[in-house]
Amino acid sequence: MRALLFLLPLFVISCAPEISSIRSEIGVERQVFTIQTGRDTLLRCQDGSTIKICTNSFLTTEKTVKIGVKEALTMSDMIREGLSTQTADGNILQTEGMIFLEPIQPSKLDINPEYPIRIALPVNNPQSGTRLYNGIPTENTIVWKMAENNFLNAAALVQAEQGRQLFGQYCAACHCTQLDQDLTGPALGNITLYRDKQWLRDFTRASQEMIAKPDSLAWCLWQKWKPTVMSDFKQLSDQQIDAIYAFIEQESARQKINLGPDDYNCIPKADTIWTDTPSSPASIYHEADFTPDPFEKERSQLNQYLFGTYDGWGWYNCDRLLQAENSKILFVLEIDNPEEFDVIQVHLSYPEEKILYSLWQSGKTFFPGEDYKAALPQKKAKITAIGLHDKTWYYYEKEIILGPENRLHATLKKTTKLAMKKQFKTKKAEELKKSKPVPYESNCLVQQQ
Ligand code: HEC
Repeated sequence: MRALLFLLPLFVISCAPEISSIRSEIGVERQVFTIQTGRDTLLRCQDGSTIKICTNSFLTTEKTVKIGVKEALTMSDMIREGLSTQTADGNILQTEGMIFLEPIQPSKLDINPEYPIRIALPVNNPQSGTRLYNGIPTENTIVWKMAENNFLNAAALVQAEQGRQLFGQYCAACHCTQLDQDLTGPALGNITLYRDKQWLRDFTRASQEMIAKPDSLAWCLWQKWKPTVMSDFKQLSDQQIDAIYAFIEQESARQKINLGPDDYNCIPKADTIWTDTPSSPASIYHEADFTPDPFEKERSQLNQYLFGTYDGWGWYNCDRLLQAENSKILFVLEIDNPEEFDVIQVHLSYPEEKILYSLWQSGKTFFPGEDYKAALPQKKAKITAIGLHDKTWYYYEKEIILGPENRLHATLKKTTKLAMKKQFKTKKAEELKKSKPVPYESNCLVQQQ
């Protein structure tokens, strides 16, 4: 029996099911955004992710572009999408949430690596060791590879460390290191979510020149803070200034700073007048970007976001390697008549640990990987199977505690597409309630001018 088990993987590759048809029928709804390329834009997505797109984030001459976003922050959404938490080299991850981005119009759209898209994923319980991973589609699921351009990765940590030193040397005299507190100058927590990168460089080098221009935002800040003048830092290179803000961004996440749009919405007082107004002030400041948002307060109480930098499309995953690899257990599931389905997708998940195996198939047998082993004995696990045959849907679900050796059997039951969708939505709502974040009930529109 054992010998046979080791031979089986040879046959697996040829009969991997094509699960994209399941995804296209019952997958996560795509949220579509129209974006004006000539300005900075903050997108608030339905489940609480925030996406920042800068003026120069897209290499295009189009005035508007459309992008699509799918959030998969719960296990039910991940199952609907046929996702897994396995790395390309067979390791197991624990996920904090996944997000998918794609260009819709134009369908080919390059992201400027100089001004990458920023994403803040709401997470329940951020753990150290969390990294950003890129999705690599395989025949029957998506596996993960650690992203290179990763705000949470080692290179970024070095940059942030350099930023920490520069901040201490040049900025801490006036800006509090507890990033939600004002000092001689304003609190700077979360600032990178609300200010343009080039604007930050210019302002940091010569704020008084920006005010004199006048740049409307710089001018507005000055009305609040004058007569205290922020020193110039003309000696700092772009790279050094970027490092300072990389530090501020990372530190804001670490300190769980909840400064939001309200705090960065500098509205000139009604009775202030432009003394030296030129014909057109710099247009970095868009009041509409910072419209107070009724859900912001509630959501910001959760305080917990993971920030990532994205310069490519596709799936992204915030997660960390599972540290219990040596306690693996045997897991084999037999399903009745799997050949009767055109497509079958089987998952083994650990809801609390947020681990998701997309099972391999060989004939009637389904298993987690080449060695037939899965992580974590004595933990609550769940088996989910979705089958599709000629527009008829079949489903199986069971919660179990796995022992050291598990040989299980399942029979899928007939259901309808509507019933499946409803079931996944109810489960998602339960998961969100349990783990926060509060679902964001906006229609996810871009906040337009
Ligand atoms: C001498 C005190 C002082 C020092 C040193 C200082 N700042 Fe400031 N900073 C201010 C004041 C005051 C303001 C408010 C605007 C103004 O008065 O021009 C400000 C505003 C800012 C803003 C604008 C905040 C917003 O809401 O957009 C940024 C960004 C900033 N400072 C970054 C820095 C950085 C980075 C450093 C270090 C390289 C630094 N500051 C050093 C006093 C200072």
